Parts: sequence; C-alpha cells; structure tokens
Amino acid sequence: MSICYVNGSYQEKSSAMISIQDRGFNFSDGVYEVMSFSDSNIINFKKHVKRLKMSLDGLRIKKPLTNYKSLELILKKLINLNSIDNGFLYLQITRGSSSRNHLFPKSSKPNIVIFTFNSKLDEKLVLNGVKIRLTEDLRWKRCDIKSISLLPNVLEKQNAFEEGMYESWQKRDNLITEGSTSNAFIVNKNGFIQTHPTNNFILGGVTRDTLIEIAKKNKIKVLEKAFSSNDLFSSREAFLTSTTAKILPVVKINNKIIGDGRPGKITQTLIKMYNEQVKF
Ligand code: PDD
Repeated sequence: MSICYVNGSYQEKSSAMISIQDRGFNFSDGVYEVMSFSDSNIINFKKHVKRLKMSLDGLRIKKPLTNYKSLELILKKLINLNSIDNGFLYLQITRGSSSRNHLFPKSSKPNIVIFTFNSKLDEKLVLNGVKIRLTEDLRWKRCDIKSISLLPNVLEKQNAFEEGMYESWQKRDNLITEGSTSNAFIVNKNGFIQTHPTNNFILGGVTRDTLIEIAKKNKIKVLEKAFSSNDLFSSREAFLTSTTAKILPVVKINNKIIGDGRPGKITQTLIKMYNEQVKF
C-alpha cells in the first residue's frame, strides 16, 4: 500500500483522484518540488521551501503549505504512513480546478498532491561516470520556476536515453544552460568549478547550491559563469547534480571523451564531501 496526500487528506495512491478540470492537468499551470529524505529527515528542506515559494510567486499562485513547520509535519506523517526511511517526496501545487479558460479563475483553491517514491541510483554510474549529449535549449525564459510544464525536458531526456546516454545538456546561444533534469558543471582549464549563474535560464538546483557551498568551504574555487561547448570539450572534468542523482561524473559528451575518460579527481573529492555532509 502506498499513501499520498491530496488536498488535506491521506489516501491510497492508486485510487486517489484529482479533478479533470485541474489547471495543472489542462494547462500545466502549477509547480513542483522533488525532495530526498534519509532516516525520515528531509534533506535541504528549507532550500526546497524557499524555491517552492519563489516558483509559486513566479506563477502568481496562492501560497498554501509554505509554512515550514506545517509542511514538514505533513511530509513526515506521509513518510511514516509509508513506512520508508529513505526515498524521495514529490510535491505538486497547481492553481486549482475550474472550468477551462486561460484566464485565472476568480476564485479557486490550489490543488496539492504529495507522494513518496523510490529511485535507486545505479552505483556504476557514480563509479564509471555517464555519457551525455548536447542539444538546443528549447525552453521558455523562466526556467528558474520549477513549473510542471516539462515537455522539452521530457523529450530531451528521452532522446538521450534512446541514444544510450544519461542526459542531454541544453545550450542557448552556444552557452550550456543545464541538463534536462540536472545542473551542469565543468572543472575548467584553470581548475575552477564552473557552472551557469542562477538566472531565468536555469533552475537554481538545491544540490547545485549545496555543492557550491561545500566547494567554497573547502577552498575549491567556483566560477558561476556560463561556459561554451568549446570550454566543455577542453575542460578537465565534468559532472552533473540533482536531488535524485546527487553528483554524477560526466566522462563523454557527444562521443568526445572528457579528461582521460574516467571520473575526475575533483569530481570524486566533491562526491565524497557531499556524501559526508549530506547523509543519505
Ligand atoms: N529535477 N535542472 C532541472 C531542469 C531539473 O529538473 C532539476 C531537478 C535540477 C536539479 O535541481 P535539484 O538539485 O534541486 O534537484 C536542475 C528533479 C529532480 C526532477 O524533475 O525530478
């Protein structure tokens, strides 16, 4: 049995329902968060709530459940009800249900859905690194909002999979923005960790943010400046970050080897530091 939370009640996931007039269903008019938990402790909870608030503000959706304490209570209850200690939480808030009209409804209550899920990362990916491909960034210019409108991301993740690769890194004006489901990093020619700055062209990843904090604390230089495909091909190392994948070394891009084709030293150090600091 798997229990989810829908608009204030805890229900069996397989039979839980939401209106066909939900604006998330009709218009992708909503936002989401994916959080991880370990020993029932929600990792980086405050950072996720902060981003959730920003996303809701960005779409002008009322802000239910952004009181840290009450949201935390609901999430912990859900974790308990599902009797799992380690896993992930998916939280979605849409503008609510109303008859189909592009205009915002005069009155509607946001629909909230939360469920837990498992996702086992293949340790071989961490040990050997992953292959990725480059693609044009077809997304809108508010990628900082964690919107449930994910079609370009879905298509590019699928294209990567069908080409035997883990991820697609998107580029805008020949600058790498981010992956379809993760943030993109290189260790550049000077040995700095380099990644796109947080602005409207990328999602400000919680893992990205935590990794940068860890790197700075450990005197590893960080450059938040977009890098080009040439910078990428001449980089010493590359890696990606996300809540579900944590940190994954990238060893091949469009069939071109990065460094010596093995996970780089700095990447491995960062993975170690991250795992020590963020227990999971
Ligand atoms: N995706 N960029 C994009 C486009 C993402 O979808 C994600 C995460 C990230 C990394 O963000 P974070 O470190 O906060 O997880 C960056 C989640 C995991 C998903 O959609 O399943």
